[in-house]
Formats: sequence, C-alpha cells, structure tokens
Amino acid sequence: MDTIVVRGGSRLRGEVAVEGAKNAALPILFAALLTDEPCVFHNVPQVVDVRTALRLLADLGAEVQQEGTTVWVRARHLRSVEAPYELVKTMRASFLVLGPLLARTGRARVSTPGGCAIGARPVDLHLKGLQKLGATVDVVHGYAEAEVQRLQGATIYLDVPSVGATEHLLMVACLAEGSTRIEQAAREPEVVDLARVLIGMGARISGAGEDVITVEGVSRLHGVEHTIVPDRIEAGTFLIGGAMTGGDVFVRDARADHLHALLLKLKEAGAEVLEDAAGIRIRGHTRLRSVDVKTMPYPGFPTDLQAQFMAAMTRAEGRAVITETIFENRFLHAVELNRLGADIKVQGNAAVVQGVEKLTGAPVMATDLRASVSLVLAGLVAEGETVVSRVYHLDRGYARLEEKLRALGAWVERRRE
Ligand code: EPZ
Repeated sequence: MDTIVVRGGSRLRGEVAVEGAKNAALPILFAALLTDEPCVFHNVPQVVDVRTALRLLADLGAEVQQEGTTVWVRARHLRSVEAPYELVKTMRASFLVLGPLLARTGRARVSTPGGCAIGARPVDLHLKGLQKLGATVDVVHGYAEAEVQRLQGATIYLDVPSVGATEHLLMVACLAEGSTRIEQAAREPEVVDLARVLIGMGARISGAGEDVITVEGVSRLHGVEHTIVPDRIEAGTFLIGGAMTGGDVFVRDARADHLHALLLKLKEAGAEVLEDAAGIRIRGHTRLRSVDVKTMPYPGFPTDLQAQFMAAMTRAEGRAVITETIFENRFLHAVELNRLGADIKVQGNAAVVQGVEKLTGAPVMATDLRASVSLVLAGLVAEGETVVSRVYHLDRGYARLEEKLRALGAWVERRRE
C-alpha cells in the first residue's frame, strides 16, 4: 500500500491540465455494450476505476484496446451477462452494466453494490426504473437478476435526481420500444456527455442536462467516436489548491460553465478567478475568508468537492458551515483534518469549521477518493510533513496527482510501503 508524503509551505504556481472525467468515462465505456460495433473514446483518464471498467468489459467478452488515453471497445459477442461481486465491490459503477446487458441480450445478473464509506447508496431507483421499462428484476443472493422480452418505454420519476440511475435508465431506454420520460433526472455534465455518446450511436434523446429527459427508442445502436468531457472535479481540486495555498494556477481545460457554484464560492472567499476559453486561472491571497457551502445536485455545489473545500476552510478567517445533503456519511475527512490541527465539529449533516492560524503535519488516513485528496491539499498548507496512507482510494480517480502537484512547485512524494 502506497503513502503520499507532503511537505507544506509551497504556493502552487504554474499550469496544470485536467484529464477526462472519470465519472463520465465509466458509464460511457459501459454504453459500448449496447452495440456490436466498435466504439472509440478519447481523453479517457488513466485511473484505477477505468482499469476496473475495462477489465469488466473484457470479462463480459468485449474486445478492449487502450493506447494512452484512447480506448477502443467492441462488444461484438458477449461471453457472459454476469458481473461478479468482486468487481462491483471494488467499483460501484460496475452496477451500470446491468441495464446495457439486459437491453442487448434480454437478461443480466449483476451483484448489487452494498453500502460504502460515504453512505448507504441504495440502487432502488435503478431497479424500479428497469421494472417500469418492462423488465422483471429480482434480488437473489445479493445479485440483481433481470429479464425482459422487449423493453417498453415508460415515464419514470426519480425520487432523487440520482446520477447513476439517470445514466442507467437513459442507456436502457435507448433500446426500448416507444418513448421514455425520465423526470427529475440528474443534470450533471457527465449525464450530458453520456447522452452525447448515445446520440452519436444513433439514439434519439432530448433534454439531457435538464430535469426531464425524453428518449424515443430505436431498434439498434451503432459505433461511435467521442472525446470525454474534462473532469470538473479534478479541475475544482486544483482550483481549490491554488486558492488555499495563495498560489497562481492556470487549470487548462477547466470549464467555468461546469464549475459555476465552486467559482462563486472561491470568489466569495477572496480568491481571484479569471475565466477564459482555454481554462481557468486562480490566484489566492494570504488568507481566504470563511464561506458556507451546501452540497446540492448539479448545478449546485458538488458533493465531490466538499472535502477539498473543507480543507481550504480549515485555515480561512472566520467560521464556515459546510452542509452535506447528498450522502449521509461524507465527513470522515473531518476527523483526519482535525489531526492536522483543524477545528471542525460535525453535527449531523453539517460541519462547523472554525478557521485556525496554522495546521501541522501528521500521519492521516484516506477514507474515500475525495477525502484522500482533501488531506493532500491540507498537507500543502500544514507545517512539516503530512503522510497520507491508503492512497489507493486516491488512485481510483486522480491520475499522476503527485507529478502534477510537483510541477506546480509542491513538495509531494509517493512512497511504497
Ligand atoms: C455519482 O454517484 C458519482 N459516481 C459520485 O462520485 C458522486 O458523488 C455522486 O454521483 C453525486 O454527484 C459516479 O458517477 C461513478 P447518486 P452515484 O445516485 O450515481 C441516493 C466520486 O468521488 N440514491 O446521484 O452513485 C444515494 O444514496 C464519486 O467520484 C438512492 O437513494 O450517486 C445518494 O444519497 C463518489 N437510490 C443520492 O441518491 C438510488 O437508487 C445521490 O446518489 C440511487 C441513489
């Protein structure tokens, strides 16, 4: 198990480029199961979750090739319609193969994901939606078993605008007979990117990015070539890093239209934000001001930037209240940040962060992907050395993070234990 060692004190300066979005790439790779023709995807991030997705596709019988950030997938013949517990346990997004396998072959058996460090994360909306589309779905021995003769379009109302359920049902609806309406759909840019891919494959979709998506089913989909949208969460992570270290960073390919809520909050905290077509430049000043944030579905403040923003608030001037409304247990980083000298009190779904003058380096433990990176960011402003263990969480979603931070002038090193 690797650790990341950070020595605090440097201001981040320079330019960094973001990868393609992991959370767009995963459903998009699985969408390749909907056709027997080749699909080519560019700007696919080289992160562990993508490797897991490619392994799953290969296990199912798809031909997979990868050259740098370009991936070629052809699901000409499927060898299996099952995704085992081992893979779904490693990466929850694997559950999204259930629908495409079902739409393509009429049956599928995929392990249900169970809870995870940030919350219970049920998949009831996915299953109910598939049933609405005419499938028989049973959960037996921990597996969702689905069967269908012919998928039928339907109106589906999502109780919460779940990103995964929207993506899952969108993929399936493309091959259903007749029209489907997904109401209270998630509006995240990753959903829109998936819709673009599906449209490129011949699907008839309108409204992606809005809260009602309509799909006119087609009888088959064909191959596609697509470039994955830039990762707004990785971009946001570097922007927060630039702001909290009092640095000056140009984040190439960061899209201001995808980061509206974060940029407003960073400006409110006193950072200077300059947007242009090629990316976003951030300039931080000596000490940020505390600002409150509340996570919300897109276009609200993303839960996937909550931990990083909390790290920035630990040394800000004043008191910030951070409210998490998406996941019920996404504050595990708070206790680790407190080990660095932060003053955070968690009360239910709110964390009260009283800004302190300084943080001091210490050994800390990563609990999930975004928590891991928040500890690295905190390490950048802590005195002395911070050693972040369990960085396998971080490797699931960030490519070459140490390298990128070093290029911005930080002292960061990976150690093999
Ligand atoms: C996606 O997870 C992302 N993962 C998450 O990113 C992200 O935090 C999350 O969306 C919210 O933006 C991927 O895209 C692979 P949801 P997902 O379904 O789709 C409840 C990261 O760090 N819910 O939108 O699983 C659920 O419990 C990760 O990159 C149900 O109740 O999230 C949660 O409270 C972590 N029933 C809320 O909805 C369901 O059937 C939102 O979850 C489905 C979800």
